[in-house]
Amino acid sequence: MYLAGRVAVITGASRGLGKAMALALAPSGVRLALVARDVERLSSVAAEARELGAEAEIFQADIADEAQVLQLEQQVKSKLGPADILINNAGINIRKLCVDYTLAEWNSVLTVNLTSVFLMCRSFVPHMQGRGYGRVINITSIMAHISLPQRTAYSASKAGLLGFTRSLALELAREGITVVAISPGPFATEMTEAIINDPQKSEQFMSHTPMRRWGDPKDIGKLALFLCSEDASFITGTDILIDGGWCAE
Ligand SMILES: NC(=O)c1ccc[n+]([C@@H]2O[C@H](COP(=O)([O-])OP(=O)(O)OC[C@H]3O[C@@H](n4cnc5c(N)ncnc54)[C@H](OP(=O)(O)O)[C@@H]3O)[C@@H](O)[C@H]2O)c1
Repeated sequence: MYLAGRVAVITGASRGLGKAMALALAPSGVRLALVARDVERLSSVAAEARELGAEAEIFQADIADEAQVLQLEQQVKSKLGPADILINNAGINIRKLCVDYTLAEWNSVLTVNLTSVFLMCRSFVPHMQGRGYGRVINITSIMAHISLPQRTAYSASKAGLLGFTRSLALELAREGITVVAISPGPFATEMTEAIINDPQKSEQFMSHTPMRRWGDPKDIGKLALFLCSEDASFITGTDILIDGGWCAE
């Protein structure tokens, strides 16, 4: 129960990697603020988390919207108290050639994947300051390090998030607040469903992955849990690749 009483805000907690991280943290005694737009799915994740021992509240918010993030901060504070842990996980991808991208599509990828993290950190980092402990975990991607065609906006947003992670870590280094990115490789979630279901694309993905398999979202959960622990208190301003070896090749 080493996170007993800690308040953890997780964006994109309604499914996929966000759900996996919520359920990995749940048995540690954490109090979860589960954030996304789909209330039905959030409720079902909250029920699973409670079965595992966590207190869990759901918060419907579009984290790309400044007013909604400001309101979210107020709601979390009044229901659960100040946040100790912030996991910026919500993200989207629109896979298209650069020359076919509309400005609206570009803006939506950059806003959800990058600007929202600034909005969330601006609201929730002050909760952690002056209390000797805090954790910000930003979910980036191997596409911050390498790339593929049809990933201009996605790669730009995730590489930007890595830079954001480094700078925020420096701002908070003396306060016991760590800021770390996790860069996942291929994980089987709804985001990657279209690739998994297309044998040719799936084979292409696996050819890049030395371990020749898709990652299990539970492994992202275990890594996030470790990063929240005291054992990870000297890890900051960096990112951890969890990619089956993709970036090593
Ligand atoms: N799966 C992979 O292989 C992979 C690899 C590298 C990096 N990643 C990153 O990991 C993170 C999670 O990905 P995933 O695979 O779990 O994707 P997913 O299954 O598509 O889940 C995305 C989550 O983000 C939430 N979300 C999206 N837009 C939102 C918004 N405007 N406001 C609030 N919540 C929003 C969604 O909830 P609602 O729809 O309910 O709002 C959902 O819970 C993303 O940042 C992604 O870029 C994934």
